[in-house]
Amino acid sequence: MSLKLNDKYVSSFIASHEISQMQSQVTAADKMLREKSGPGNAFLGWLDLPENYDKAEFERVKVAAEKIKNTCDVLIVIGIGGSYLGARAVIEFLKSPYYNQLPKNTPDIYFAGNVISADALNEVLALCEGRDVCVNVISKSGTTTEPAIAFRVFRKLLENKYGKDGARERIFVTTDKARGTLKQFSTDEGYQTFVIPDDVGGRFSVLTSCGLLPIAVAGIDIDQMMDGARAAYKAYQTADVEKNPCYRYAAIRNILYRKGKSVEVLASYEPFMALFSEWWKQLYGESEGKDQRGIFPASVVFSTDLHSLGQYIQDGSRMLFETVIDLADTGASFEIPNDPANIDSLNFLSGMDLNMVKKRAMEGTILAHVDGGVPNIVLEVSERSAFALGELIYFFELACAISGYLLGVNPFDQPGVESYKKNMFALLGKPGYDDLRSSLEERLKNS
Ligand code: PA5
Repeated sequence: MSLKLNDKYVSSFIASHEISQMQSQVTAADKMLREKSGPGNAFLGWLDLPENYDKAEFERVKVAAEKIKNTCDVLIVIGIGGSYLGARAVIEFLKSPYYNQLPKNTPDIYFAGNVISADALNEVLALCEGRDVCVNVISKSGTTTEPAIAFRVFRKLLENKYGKDGARERIFVTTDKARGTLKQFSTDEGYQTFVIPDDVGGRFSVLTSCGLLPIAVAGIDIDQMMDGARAAYKAYQTADVEKNPCYRYAAIRNILYRKGKSVEVLASYEPFMALFSEWWKQLYGESEGKDQRGIFPASVVFSTDLHSLGQYIQDGSRMLFETVIDLADTGASFEIPNDPANIDSLNFLSGMDLNMVKKRAMEGTILAHVDGGVPNIVLEVSERSAFALGELIYFFELACAISGYLLGVNPFDQPGVESYKKNMFALLGKPGYDDLRSSLEERLKNS
């Protein structure tokens, strides 16, 4: 395994018997999950996905990715939430946040339909000018407003540029197998479609076509990613918190939550992990934040954020714990140059690799934060690779499910997401929302 859980920096906050005392609850959560008897049991397709994925669909993804690579300069990936974050997180993690700017033999990839912003949409359209474009629209429901608006725009762009027949060759749709307007529309128009399985919710869908098609277009080895996820799937079968680091992580975060640590900060030391943290935040926030419960997931990229949020973490309200991703080998190194004038008095670092400075910064920060009353869970990841990332993704998905059951919520629904939509539709005058619209307008006037 490329992943290890180091929990020695929680030992001053949690006694070892507290973890063993969680065993019966963890065993019950594991039983609900594996026997599919818990809440949300219709959405457990991700659980054995690394072993039981649709191999024919997986091959079709690879073929489509090659076609996209060969026919376009730019791929526009349209989607929001679980239909967006996973693909972007993986591409930035394994390639770079500067993927589009760096020299490469794969298309630029821009994301659209993940925000309601005229500026953002205009900017992505401008980036397409004079270039060959393909579109991958991703929406399980097929009815989500943000991607639907973006799809209108980019479909028109392709049809104007290539004609209806040409556009058909450049539009790839990832959606539900049978239901939904997008599926019906794609069938009518003859677009190539990929399936987000019925029993896999958006935030658990990165290892389905939803994430895999854009990831493969970026030139990432999706076989390796699935191999990593499969290794994790096999390694985390036991419910024993002494032997299963994934379940132990779930248990520890619940113990900390019950002690008043209601915010978990995912800390990384690489900018290429910022979007991965966004994926993680959606996974945990949408899975656990309900019924007036749940750990609030936050994230930082150190050392950048040691110069901003670091003050709060060290000294502010003591409701935090941190989960630190310690990525040992990123594949890069950089020797710090000597400065004969030593104007910054840093010559004690001359010749040292920047990775050593990062490691020492991380060790020093962990100790300081622990001294400041912030428990630190450390996840040691050995390398920056598709295999290790597949493992890490599965680790977090499985831990999230167990953790949600320990918390006593349904980790697989998201009823709270509907409230803003209802109000937004009413205020925009969607037919059928008249009464709600009047009452909301009244409240806006009087507040
Ligand atoms: O995790 C989820 O279920 C959500 O974040 C959805 O992925 C998001 O709302 C987009 O939904 P859809 O794929 O139906 O457009």
